[in-house]
Amino acid sequence: MDFYGHIIGGEEVPSLDGSTMDDIDPYTREPWATIACGGKADADRAVAAAREAFDEGPWPRMGYENRQTILHRLADLMDEHAAELAMADTRDMGKPLTQALHDVARSSWNVRFFADHARLSMGDAYPMDSGHHAYARFDPVGVAVAISPWNFPLMLGTWKVAPALAWGNTVVMKPAEDTPVSATLWARLALEAGMPPGVLNVVHGYGPDSAGAALTAHPDVDRITFTGESGTGKVISGAASSHLVPVSLELGGKGANIVFDDAEIDNAVHWAVQAIFRNAGQICLSGSRLYLQAGIYDAFVERFVTAAEALRAGDPKEPETEFPLALASEEHYRKVSGYLDTVQEDGGRILTGGLGEGWSVLPTIIVDAPPTARVCREEIFGPVCVVQRFESEDEAVAAANDTRYGLNAMVFTENLSRAHRVAARLRAGTVWVNCFFIRDLRAPFGGVGDSGVGREGGNFSREFFTEPKAVIMQIDPGY
Ligand code: NAI
Ligand code: MG
Repeated sequence: MDFYGHIIGGEEVPSLDGSTMDDIDPYTREPWATIACGGKADADRAVAAAREAFDEGPWPRMGYENRQTILHRLADLMDEHAAELAMADTRDMGKPLTQALHDVARSSWNVRFFADHARLSMGDAYPMDSGHHAYARFDPVGVAVAISPWNFPLMLGTWKVAPALAWGNTVVMKPAEDTPVSATLWARLALEAGMPPGVLNVVHGYGPDSAGAALTAHPDVDRITFTGESGTGKVISGAASSHLVPVSLELGGKGANIVFDDAEIDNAVHWAVQAIFRNAGQICLSGSRLYLQAGIYDAFVERFVTAAEALRAGDPKEPETEFPLALASEEHYRKVSGYLDTVQEDGGRILTGGLGEGWSVLPTIIVDAPPTARVCREEIFGPVCVVQRFESEDEAVAAANDTRYGLNAMVFTENLSRAHRVAARLRAGTVWVNCFFIRDLRAPFGGVGDSGVGREGGNFSREFFTEPKAVIMQIDPGY
């Protein structure tokens, strides 16, 4: 089995105490790689390397243009190695290969976009009429820690790390323990692209009492960006507060997908399927609560079930597979399948789906569950959709907002005024109208309530990964 180490100070290294972990392919349920398993000592070493590269190395000082050149070279290398990067994520978490290839394209775009955005973004000037002039600088903050989850290993890793790098910071990245390989592959490519040693460090390991906790409590860290479960976000926020380190938290979701009677039905069915069954529903943005207006309810449910059953389920490594017969890990399979057991107790009917082979859950559609049922309230993070009926716009908005989460929502309608009206009333960081998953990386991305703190994307990422500074100068000594 191949070995994947930490990347610290430009070298690929084992853990100081030699610890390793098995990397399991959830489809074969067998280990396929051996990974260095870091602890506090490895985290300390990585932060020290990032600190030194920030305080003394060329990266923060070389200017946007030179960083842009290196980041573009990295993005080119990612495209050249797309097959290998995609297969790493597929083997690590069972994501269908076609979707993993899409993620790699999005990942190299993350790198190119932030390289360009950092160079081209505009500063602010505040001309004063008192003989003075004020302007803002956006200087890098120092060492950023990026802790990423397993559902989009490379894509979410690059989404967090690329803006930190583009604005001149150095980084320690801790990928999820279930999906470590693509981060090491990526950091190897960064070195090949000419990124100076210590700028992008990767430490593998677990969260609590391990590398993750050590990084988030480290006094030499200046920013922490995290994507993952809401409970973990609260723990990380607590650790960061002891050093007053700003955190950006992208957490869980329970996305509402509202389809009105006047929607374009083919389009709405297509996106309803994508929104909950893509990546086997292991998406924080998934449309796990589907609200259908009474006039289309029966016809829509019938088409939704047919489309779910028509998805080509199979081995994630096969290019024709649309739906993977594996969830990301045994632990996650137990969690998702446990929710199916709650239906009997809490109420509701499973129209299609249920357990599949191995660690898989089939595309599952539940109707008639009361809004208090666990499947309606909690983030399942799997291919399980609860369908509800509504009569009026007010009722749909109230039901959609009846959640502690607020990451995203979808609205399907051909009525222009209603689309804007409902988008404004939904309590969510992102609202998609007649589509799903489309992103513009300049736009704010994040959630309200238990779905997160802060926004990333475009200038929102700049605000987080820089220390905006006001410079005020006298230009007329007469004042
Ligand atoms: P998690 O939130 O526990 O882990 C995500 C990352 O945080 C991993 O890199 C992990 O090592 C790290 N981590 C965990 N505890 C930490 C701590 N105390 N300090 C520092 N780092 C820590 O997610 P996990 O265990 O992979 O999945 C648990 C559940 O969370 C899933 O079943 C799923 O429902 C949900 N989840 C939600 C995601 C989202 O984007 N909304 C993403 C991943 C998981
Ligand atoms: Mg965990």
